[in-house]
Amino acid sequence: MTVRVVEVIERKRDGGRLTAAEIDRVVVGHSRGEVPDYQMAAFLMAVLLRGMVDEETVLLTDSMVASGQRLDLSRFGRVVDKHSTGGIGDKVTLVVAPLVAACGAPVAKMSGRGLGITGGTLDKLESFRGYRVDLTTAEFLAQLERIGVVVTGQTADLAPADGAMYALRDVTGTVPSIPLIASSIMSKKIASGAHGLVLDVKVGRGAFMKTLARARELARLMVAIGKARKMDVTAELTAMDAPLGGAVGNALEVMEAIATLAGGGPEDLREVVLSAGAEMLLYARRARTRAAARAMLVRAIADGSGLRKLEELVAAQGGDARAVADPSRLARAKTVTTLTSGRIAYVARLDAHDIGLASVRLGAGREKKGDPIDHATGIVLRAKPGDRVAKGEPYAEVHASGRSGDAEAIRMVERAFTWRATRGARPRLVLGRIASG
Ligand code: URA
Repeated sequence: MTVRVVEVIERKRDGGRLTAAEIDRVVVGHSRGEVPDYQMAAFLMAVLLRGMVDEETVLLTDSMVASGQRLDLSRFGRVVDKHSTGGIGDKVTLVVAPLVAACGAPVAKMSGRGLGITGGTLDKLESFRGYRVDLTTAEFLAQLERIGVVVTGQTADLAPADGAMYALRDVTGTVPSIPLIASSIMSKKIASGAHGLVLDVKVGRGAFMKTLARARELARLMVAIGKARKMDVTAELTAMDAPLGGAVGNALEVMEAIATLAGGGPEDLREVVLSAGAEMLLYARRARTRAAARAMLVRAIADGSGLRKLEELVAAQGGDARAVADPSRLARAKTVTTLTSGRIAYVARLDAHDIGLASVRLGAGREKKGDPIDHATGIVLRAKPGDRVAKGEPYAEVHASGRSGDAEAIRMVERAFTWRATRGARPRLVLGRIASG
């Protein structure tokens, strides 16, 4: 008996539970062009308003995976992947992917571009002149075989239903649904074939998820989907009230990632890298305990093998790998405005949302989809919450290229800081962890 799409929409509208055949009818049908956008839009709104039980969300994810190709990476051993739900200054992938690969674990990662005020790994990697983010599936597999790490854009044949659904969600007010976000992310991760996945679920002012409760629910659901489909998944909940690290903006973040792989870099970035990297090594069966995994990562920083792996990765994808040893080869902004403190004060809060908006104004992100970005511009934060700044000392730099919004961006950066007279506690970074067991 054929399933009628309107009946599926009505059942969900009335709070009913859908079967695999019903969900397939809508999702696979839409990706084949048999179900029109207006019915898919109504379906998405019904899901947003009525929700889904976990089993339905797993079936929704299955349908999205079934709309395209699913990679089989088993010949590479246990392959690991990592995904962040997006934040400001989040350059963790640039550090952790080569670092984990340098420890012998194959890392296969398909990343995205910036979304709203949050930056994207592909945009950051393109700061290396020539870096290709459009590898074919054959190139993706060949590079994984040859150097054990690949970071590229999503190929068009993986979970194509997600692309079509996301485009509609974007214009129908149906992005902020936990089952829709969880199935969107997990369909791409399952289709791309890794065996172990570490999710970095960001929570706070600069993240999709503004509250710990919603972040925890999203994390729990993504882990449940992974578990149902035999993928090892750990979700770490990490704070995104303030940006991660000091640099925000593409080439600036690449420089900070290089510094971190070279043994320097900001403490908070290093902590998220070691925490996510250790889980990845455990899933790849390269270490037995978290402590042993962290020690391997620390060694790969100290002996330079992580940095060399980044060089290999950039070269393999056609980028200017000389910039790893000589970051002056990366794009530089025309002007740098240094903001200095008028008094001795402590940073009470630093609003990641305002810093993200300022970075978009400077050209480091997109006002709308498809806009070009300026790799050189952005912000360097010299002080973070809990830090003391003396009178006359710099607390931020604004790297600009002479756009009309530059002056406003500088004011936004000034306003992003809240000051206090006495030292407050440094905010916690890792807020929780949920694992598939
Ligand atoms: N990222 C995704 O890939 N999908 C969503 O729905 C939200 C964030």
